[in-house]
Amino acid sequence: MTDASEAYENGAMDNGPVNLTTALASFDDVYSPRIVARMNDYDVRIAHALGEHVWHVHEDTDEFFLVLDGQFDVAVRDADGSETTVVLRTGDTYVVPKGIEHKPSSPGGSILMFEPSGTSSTGDRYKGEIPDHVDSTTGHALT
Ligand code: NI
Repeated sequence: MTDASEAYENGAMDNGPVNLTTALASFDDVYSPRIVARMNDYDVRIAHALGEHVWHVHEDTDEFFLVLDGQFDVAVRDADGSETTVVLRTGDTYVVPKGIEHKPSSPGGSILMFEPSGTSSTGDRYKGEIPDHVDSTTGHALT
């Protein structure tokens, strides 16, 4: 019999079950997504969130968010430049449509994302400087 914690210790990418609580506890970095599963050509990624991300755009893909813990806000900018902030709490889901400028921020929380493998955490383009606490990445393996 294999339980989730044993499978996790054996490596998350080997198709065994992954426990999200254990996975989140295995790293501290904020805005540095870890890939917990791949299906077809999509990644399931998790990340801790704290502070401001950076305004960015994914030109060719929508981006799915599920708040696992805490609060996660997504500021979105319409084509006319007006901004709206979507406030998400534990259990909330939200999809940022492709081509929409967005900037996540959080007073503290953790999220799950679903997006095509290879999608950059800072988009195809971004505005301004990437803060030091934001990792520009296509996701890291769980270790
Ligand atoms: Ni994004």
